[in-house]
Amino acid sequence: MKIAIVLGTRPEIIKMASVMDEIENRGHELLLIHTGQHYDKEMSENFFIDLKLPTPNYNIHVGSGSHGAQTGKMMEGIEEVLLDEKPDILLVQGDTNAVLAGALVASKLHIPVGHVEAGLRSFDETMPEEINRLAADICSKLYFVPTEESAINLAMEGISRKRIFITGNTVVDACFRNLEISKSRDKDQYDEGLQELDIDNMDNILTLTMHRAETVDDKERLTNIIEALEELSDMNIIFPIHPRTKKTMENFNLFDRLNDLPHVHIIKPVGYLDFLLLISKSTIILTDSGGLQEEAITLDVPALTLRYNTERPETVTAGGNILVGSDKEVILENARKILDDEDFANRMKSAKNPYGMGNAAELMIKIIEESDKNDTLKMVA
Ligand code: UD1
Ligand code: UDP
Repeated sequence: MKIAIVLGTRPEIIKMASVMDEIENRGHELLLIHTGQHYDKEMSENFFIDLKLPTPNYNIHVGSGSHGAQTGKMMEGIEEVLLDEKPDILLVQGDTNAVLAGALVASKLHIPVGHVEAGLRSFDETMPEEINRLAADICSKLYFVPTEESAINLAMEGISRKRIFITGNTVVDACFRNLEISKSRDKDQYDEGLQELDIDNMDNILTLTMHRAETVDDKERLTNIIEALEELSDMNIIFPIHPRTKKTMENFNLFDRLNDLPHVHIIKPVGYLDFLLLISKSTIILTDSGGLQEEAITLDVPALTLRYNTERPETVTAGGNILVGSDKEVILENARKILDDEDFANRMKSAKNPYGMGNAAELMIKIIEESDKNDTLKMVA
C-alpha cells in the first residue's frame, strides 16, 4: 500500500516515528508530507536525526501565521501532493492544524483518513486543538484511539465501533524504543543545553515545559506560575523553552525575571533523546503539554499539569497527574508534597500507565492492511 502521513510539529514527528518504521518494515510505501509549521532546527530537523527518520518527500513550508492563514496554506499544499501521489490512505496524528488540514483535504478527495490518537476530548472548545480534534474525527474512516475512554467519546458522537481500534498511544512506542539509547550515550553527544548542565549529578530536578496559547499568551497566568517557581528554590528547574513562550515572555518582560533566578536553567528546546534522559531523571514534571502528561506516567515521574482541564483524564484518574492550573498556591502545595512526602510521591510514581504496551504502531499498520483487504476503507459512513 502507499501510506501517506501529514505532520508539521515536534510532537507529531515523535509520535509518528514508530508508525513510519512499521510502514517501511512491513513493506509499504511511505509518502511523508511535512507542512513546515515547525521549522526551527530544534523544533523539527533534530527529531528526524535523533529518531533516524526519512527526509520528507514534500515540505510545504507554511511557517507561522494566524490559524486561518496557516491552515489554508497547508490545505492548498497538501491537496496538490495528494492529487499527484494518490495514496491509499492518509494518516494524521493528534490535534494540530496539520491534522485539520490533512483530514479535510483527503476526505474531500475520497482518500480514507486514519486518525492516530483519535477520540481525545477536553470538552473545552476555546482550545484550537479541541476544534481540530472534533473536525478531524468527522473526516476520518479509521480511528486509532489510545484508551477505552477515547473510544467511548467517539461512540457517544455516533462513530461506529467497527471503525474504532484501541491501540495504545505511539508515545509509549517512542519512549520504550528510545529510553535505553538515550541513556547509553556519552555526555559529548548531548545537545548544547544539556551539556552545560551536569544533570547526572543533580538532585530534585523539575522539568518545566509550557507553550499552550491559553497559558503563555496570558500575562497573569504566566506571572502566577513564575511566582511559584521563585519559591521552589530548593529544586533545579530545567526549562527547555518553546519558541512561542520565549517570544511572549520577552514581550511581557518576564523572561529575565525567570532567567535571573539561580535555581532556574532556561535552555533551547532539546532533541528527543536528551529530553527523555532529562525527564527520566526528574522528580517532577511541570507542564501544559499533552505529550508530556503521557510520557510522565509512562516513565513513572509525577506530573503537575498547568491546566484546568485535560484531554488525558486517564493520567489523573490513574493517580500520576494532578491538574494545578496556574494557581501559585496549588502548584506550590503539590510540588512540596511530592518533595517532602515520600508516600505521596511513590503513589504518584506507581500510577499504572493507561497508554498500552508500546506496540501501537504495529497494531495500526496491521489494522490498515486488514481494512484494505476487507474494504472497510471504502465503506461509506
Ligand atoms: C503547535 C500546535 C499545538 C502543539 C504545539 C507543539 C496548533 C494549533 N498548535 O503550537 O497544538 O501542542 O505546536 O509544540 O497546531 N515558532 C518559532 N519556530 C518554530 C515554530 C514556531 O519561532 O519552528 C514560534 C512562532 O513565533 C509562532 C509561534 O512559535 O508564531 C507559535 O507556533 P505555532 O506553530 O503557531 O503553534 P505552537 O504554539 O507551536
Ligand atoms: N520534547 C522534546 N524536547 C523538548 C521538549 C519536549 O523532545 O525540549 C518532546 C516531548 O518528549 C514530547 C513532545 O516533545 O514527546 C511534546 O511536544 P509539545 O509539548 O511541544 O506538544 P504537545 O504534546 O503539547 O502537543
